[in-house]
Amino acid sequence: MSYNLLKGKKGIVFGALDSNSIAWKTAQRCYAEGAQLVLTNAPVALRMGEINKLAEECGNAPVIGADVTSNEDLTNLINQSREHLGGNLDFVLHSVGMSLNVRKNKAYTDLNYDFQHKSFDISAMSLHRLCQCLYQADAMNEWGSIVALTYIAAQRVFPDYNEMADAKALLESVARSFGYHYGVKKHVRINTISQSPTRTTAGSGVKGFDGFINYAEKMSPLGNASADDCAAYTVSLFSDLTRMVTMQNLFHDGGFSFTGVTAEVIAQMEK
Ligand SMILES: NC(=O)c1ccc[n+]([C@@H]2O[C@H](COP(=O)([O-])OP(=O)(O)OC[C@H]3O[C@@H](n4cnc5c(N)ncnc54)[C@H](O)[C@@H]3O)[C@@H](O)[C@H]2O)c1
Repeated sequence: MSYNLLKGKKGIVFGALDSNSIAWKTAQRCYAEGAQLVLTNAPVALRMGEINKLAEECGNAPVIGADVTSNEDLTNLINQSREHLGGNLDFVLHSVGMSLNVRKNKAYTDLNYDFQHKSFDISAMSLHRLCQCLYQADAMNEWGSIVALTYIAAQRVFPDYNEMADAKALLESVARSFGYHYGVKKHVRINTISQSPTRTTAGSGVKGFDGFINYAEKMSPLGNASADDCAAYTVSLFSDLTRMVTMQNLFHDGGFSFTGVTAEVIAQMEK
């Protein structure tokens, strides 16, 4: 069901790798709600070609490659998007994350720091870089909205989330700090959504993911939030209905973040 919440709005969606990606579902939902889109991902991810299916579904949205660690790529993406969309942007989704140490099976107590720099650059500093490129190019409309995706390991320890916990803590801090400056300058809102574990390429890379996602399901009064649920919540943050929400880390996790224990987990422990 569509409510036309984004009618007339224009935005960029980062991070749709395949149909499981949170960004994929969000692009579909934004389009269904009346938005005009530009899709982007790292040039290497575009080679898979999957994103072209999504682009077609979203009114032949242009697909523009950009590595989030490159100022030049981001500037080019913003310029081309404004040209294509015929004006400034109303929303941007940052749905990007990657951990080299996790990929290489390095333990948190044995990190490779070159990998760590790269992981932080891609997963956290990229939000600052993106916001700064948008800010300096004055590419957002008044009351625009920027959303980045995060995970509760930024606040509480989930050992196998590894260096990504630190990357997410930095990402959430950037959303707060840049949210202040962009709010004062142009009423642009910046928030992070702290999403339940979700079966995607990035999610499944976390060691012991099956146990992790089942545990979260049992610890959440509403169950885990799906990627579709996340897309719907993100649309609400891009809409005019949430104009005064900024600099927040918003838990979207079926109640997991504030649950001490559940009857289901107790029952499991008593077995
Ligand atoms: N899946 C989960 O359990 C979960 C939970 C909470 C938060 N998140 C966050 O949601 C976001 C989206 O992840 P997802 O789960 O949809 O997985 P995904 O693998 O589908 O998406 C991650 C995206 O990041 C992109 N990316 C990686 N390096 C890049 C670079 N250098 N430049 C541009 N793009 C790059 C990938 O190409 C991919 O499209 C991430 O920030 C992730 O940490 C995921």
